[in-house]
Amino acid sequence: MKKTLLAAAFGLSSLLGASAQAKYEPTEANLKSREEFRDMKLGIFLHWGIYSTFAQGEWYLQNAVPDRYEYAKAADAFYPHRFDARQWVRSFKEAGAKYICFTSRHHDGFSMWNTKQSKYNIVEATPFGRDVIKELAEACKEEGIRLHFYYSHLDWMRDDYPMGRTGTNVGKPRDKSDWKSYYSFMNNQLTELLTQYGPIGAIWFDGWWDHDEDSVPFDWHLQEQYELIHRLQPACLVGNNHHGAPMEGEDIQIFERDLPGEMTTGFAKSVAEVSRLPLETCETMNGMWGYKVTDNNYKSTADIIRLLIKTSGKGANLLMNIGPQPNGELPAVALQRLKELGEWTTAYGETIYGTDAGDVKPQPWGVTTKKDGKLFVHVLAPECLVPGDGGNPVLYLPLDWKVKSVTEFIGGAKVEYRKTSNGIAVMLPRKIEAVDYVLVVQ
Ligand code: GLC
Repeated sequence: MKKTLLAAAFGLSSLLGASAQAKYEPTEANLKSREEFRDMKLGIFLHWGIYSTFAQGEWYLQNAVPDRYEYAKAADAFYPHRFDARQWVRSFKEAGAKYICFTSRHHDGFSMWNTKQSKYNIVEATPFGRDVIKELAEACKEEGIRLHFYYSHLDWMRDDYPMGRTGTNVGKPRDKSDWKSYYSFMNNQLTELLTQYGPIGAIWFDGWWDHDEDSVPFDWHLQEQYELIHRLQPACLVGNNHHGAPMEGEDIQIFERDLPGEMTTGFAKSVAEVSRLPLETCETMNGMWGYKVTDNNYKSTADIIRLLIKTSGKGANLLMNIGPQPNGELPAVALQRLKELGEWTTAYGETIYGTDAGDVKPQPWGVTTKKDGKLFVHVLAPECLVPGDGGNPVLYLPLDWKVKSVTEFIGGAKVEYRKTSNGIAVMLPRKIEAVDYVLVVQ
């Protein structure tokens, strides 16, 4: 009797998808990869696809095109003759990035590799005919840069994707949806991505929110998909830009255009919870993810540096986006930013890479990071410091520590300090002008 009950229960659970109940236990390889990821601190996000030819961002199909087949004609004009994977990867590396996250397939459903699951891909549908993912994977391997893939869960092109709240005006029929077919299409594609391009650092899902307003909760069957990824590459991290707390099977927590827990963006409703998983904040360099010809509103190098410091101060990584041009080049402004960012990371990298969030929580004046018994104090807004005797700023660290020394990170000059009831008061030797003035507290 007991046996039959057990068997029945097992039968039921496998019907429901046994995996949905199984608790996810990351493997050793996965845990190691999480730690490596945590230390990397800076990645470059790349949104590149046939949408770049319209130069209106990656949502152009959804936003402006009433017929998806008219849009798809852009594939036949996609000829990025200046694309050079090595040059791209080198400029990311010189900037101090340790990984890249590339859009393998965005919401428009176009695949940027030689997939066998659909002819709507860069090798078969464009005159360019090159597998850019293969070229990027080779360049990353050569340069020691980790490769992550962005992968869209939603699809504005395919009939079998069960339509959500976007992609409703592109001429797609609603009655042809076929989840089983679409799900196996995705899993076959993921299998290709994870078996043909060497070790992949992470799969970065996006589009879950397409069904967040359904009256009956939509089941994406994530657990089974995550299991597939972990089975194919145990060290591959799974992240999902669902704007909420991490779900079972995820290895990193993603914050879109927001510092962990700050909830300053429109996705604020659910991202209050900051998990113990490795954290990543993604941000655009101008205002758009995909190339947009009218958007020249680039963040200054100083702003990008401050963002990197602030994410590090939260123990998170910064995934900084660039939208490459339709001709295959990175925009000149982006290249300039990368170069200047590289000058900063070369000088200050020790205070960023491999650090944890420091013991002093983010303050109006700046943030702290720490590594090997050193607390790095990054002063980002000196105007928020109080002036001491003689007018030079004084910085209060709310810490009850025995301090061995306080020095300037650049040059190593000793800085005066004393213990007060407000913590450690550090008397800064001068007015501060650097983008980031860093002190080392031991
Ligand atoms: C949003 C956008 C998508 C972009 C992503 C990057 O989800 O819809 O286009 O790729 O953010 O974070």
